[in-house]
Amino acid sequence: MRFGEDFIEELKSRVKPSDVIGRTVKLRRQGREFAGLSPFNKEKTPSFFVNDEKGFYHCFSSGKHGDVISWFQETEGLSFTEAVERLAGEAGMALPAPDPEAAQKAQRQKGLLEWMEEAARFFTAELGRVRGRHARHYLHDRGLDEQACAAFGLGYAPSSHSALKDYLVQKGAGLGVLVEAGLLIAPDGGRSPYDRFRDRVMFPIHDARRRLVGFGGRALSADDKAKYLNSPETPLFHKGRTLYHYPKARAAVRKANANGLVVAEGYMDVIALARAGIEHAVAPLGTALTEDQLRLLWQAGPEPVLCFDGDAAGQRAAHRALDRALPMLEPGRTLKFAFLPSGLDPDDMIRTRGRAAMEDVLREARALVDVLWERERQREPLDTPESRAGLKKRLRQAASEIGNKEVASFYVSEFYARIDVLFRRVRSGIQERAPAKAFPSADLRKLASGPASGRAEQWFLLAQIMAHPQILLEADETFANMPLGDEGLNRLRDAILEHWLAETSVDRASLHRHLTHEGFADDIRELERRTIPVPEQSDIDRVTRWLTTAQDLIERAGSADEQAARVKQLLDGLKRGDQSSLRALGATRQSAKFGDEDEGNV
Ligand code: UTP
Ligand code: MN
Repeated sequence: MRFGEDFIEELKSRVKPSDVIGRTVKLRRQGREFAGLSPFNKEKTPSFFVNDEKGFYHCFSSGKHGDVISWFQETEGLSFTEAVERLAGEAGMALPAPDPEAAQKAQRQKGLLEWMEEAARFFTAELGRVRGRHARHYLHDRGLDEQACAAFGLGYAPSSHSALKDYLVQKGAGLGVLVEAGLLIAPDGGRSPYDRFRDRVMFPIHDARRRLVGFGGRALSADDKAKYLNSPETPLFHKGRTLYHYPKARAAVRKANANGLVVAEGYMDVIALARAGIEHAVAPLGTALTEDQLRLLWQAGPEPVLCFDGDAAGQRAAHRALDRALPMLEPGRTLKFAFLPSGLDPDDMIRTRGRAAMEDVLREARALVDVLWERERQREPLDTPESRAGLKKRLRQAASEIGNKEVASFYVSEFYARIDVLFRRVRSGIQERAPAKAFPSADLRKLASGPASGRAEQWFLLAQIMAHPQILLEADETFANMPLGDEGLNRLRDAILEHWLAETSVDRASLHRHLTHEGFADDIRELERRTIPVPEQSDIDRVTRWLTTAQDLIERAGSADEQAARVKQLLDGLKRGDQSSLRALGATRQSAKFGDEDEGNV
């Protein structure tokens, strides 16, 4: 270790955490501490605290805590040494005499960096010259004007074996350092090194510290063997630890008010996304995501969205990323998966269907738990007890891959709940619920057209289902049977139930899609307009509140006849011949008879 403990202690005593952290997080003094909004999670009330006396920060929403050194490691992706160097600079402390090896390495990197920068200047200049004309045209055809090229530092490597070499040597570079930087290739047998990148559009690649560490080059002629060529591994460039566009994207996450980065597959996708206003996008460099890259993603936000082609290969790639991520999941730290229409990448998507379509795809990204569930469920038909037990076993196994035990146990219970629904052991809820405060607030009652009409409650119950369809895991039976005064609402309910019964995994996005598709867009808007929002609450509270409100409503309207009529109506609504829905309805009605089987299981 380069720094002694004394040095570190001295350093920490000289810098106030609130000063350092206060530069990026707005802090307010609260007694002996400072409080602010978590830089790690999106939140409305401050759960992030900084204590100068004790020299640490603690974030209750993400569980992260540490000192000023780990602050820089966490938020800027610096190594320990880099963080210490940075702080020492700020505190005006001379760094202790470095060990010769580290010093040498740093010196060498510095030399390489200078030549990388010089090469980038060469490439961008070449893009403006005569011999770069076809590259300019190519980029122009792909929708990138001069300004866009400049914004991404795009350049052109001429079709020559020595153009870059000659330029850099004339600037004073040695051949050895250029080979080490990956700019030249040294052939076997001692022949003279030559330019690695020839007749390619050049993309500069920066590391988390904004240093130019590598290049990607896209071939211009279609018959080039490699469409894209990257810098090789060098003392600066480590492909598996780097993400294209990371430093800028990371800074853009907060600006976009996003929950994390968007991850595309290629350079051109990132550029297309950024130009469509989605500036917080990155891409790995031609390989599947590594653990290091996942870590980088999470340093920028808790819920990165990975984009994949909707085809089978994209599906496989998504699963690979999912498996890699499982052991690394933590409370509040996950992935989302956005699937594009088959055969389209984000660049194609934005070009052919527009940015709004791309934004829709991102908004409808699926949770990791859904993708995992879907994968295991579809491995084989589930028509025998053995295959059902097999599903359960696979899901347990997958959950056990999760390193964080708390997260793992929530996955297990989530899977069990879904298995129950999948095999149609739908629980009926309302009789055995513990009494809870029912919904109708004074305000809402006023909104309702009459004190006993229950109109506001009906809106509330529907709106809650729309926003949190997982309530149906506990309450679909009740939902199907509760009285709704208005024919429009009844049709909306039938459409919701139809989707719920036909699909094993229903989330808000898929439900909205289905309902919009079925022509209920106006009803949804109307419902949202009429409903008073309720504060965020836990799943259990939400279900409890929902069920109690429904119970109120049923009691007020309450005749058994009406419920029977409802079931008939539901049957009619489902009569479109969907076998599985009809079967499911049968099972649902049956299970209502032994509704106490699973009691206390909310
Ligand atoms: P794709 O082949 O999907 O191409 O490569 P693309 O991004 O759509 O490229 P355009 O639109 O044809 O220009 C995706 C990413 O995979 C890496 C690159 O990082 C590329 O951006 N790749 C691809 C390579 O490293 N080498 C290759 O030969 C091809
Ligand atoms: Mn493409």
